[in-house]
Amino acid sequence: MRPNKLNTRLAVVALAVAAAFVLFSQSAMAKKRALPAPALLSQTVELPAGDDVFPDRPGAETADRNCLSCHSVDMVLNQPALPRETWAGEIEKMRSVYKAAVDPGDIDAILDYLTAIRGESRRSWR
Ligand code: HEC
Repeated sequence: MRPNKLNTRLAVVALAVAAAFVLFSQSAMAKKRALPAPALLSQTVELPAGDDVFPDRPGAETADRNCLSCHSVDMVLNQPALPRETWAGEIEKMRSVYKAAVDPGDIDAILDYLTAIRGESRRSWR
């Protein structure tokens, strides 16, 4: 079959596009090579101080063990003073909604602890 003029033109255009692409990518690579090496600098980042564990008091270790695997202690300490029942609901929410693996035998100790540090009658223990 004899190639018609349209096919020939298409072939020429395709070749031109391919050549332009090769030239362009080569010049882009040449430009990249010409860039100066980036300077590597050591950075110092000052993170805000935070509490790693619950403030020391009977029950603190139990709370540490059960309540710090998913979020920091600040998630708890930044809450307002709450009634005991609200804290009980909070622990239950952690267990049922977020599937926190709280040892059932630890719940009372945690509840006593949370009520002691953030119970409604003690507005700011720290
Ligand atoms: C399995 C993971 C997990 C564990 C373990 C866990 N929490 Fe949470 N907690 C969450 C998630 C998820 C949120 C919601 C975070 C958010 O909204 O950004 C949350 C939020 C909270 C809040 C903020 C108020 C709210 O209801 O969102 C408090 C208070 C809290 N947790 C207390 C506790 C206490 C007390 C314990 C231990 C008994 C505990 N958490 C253990 C996952 C967990």
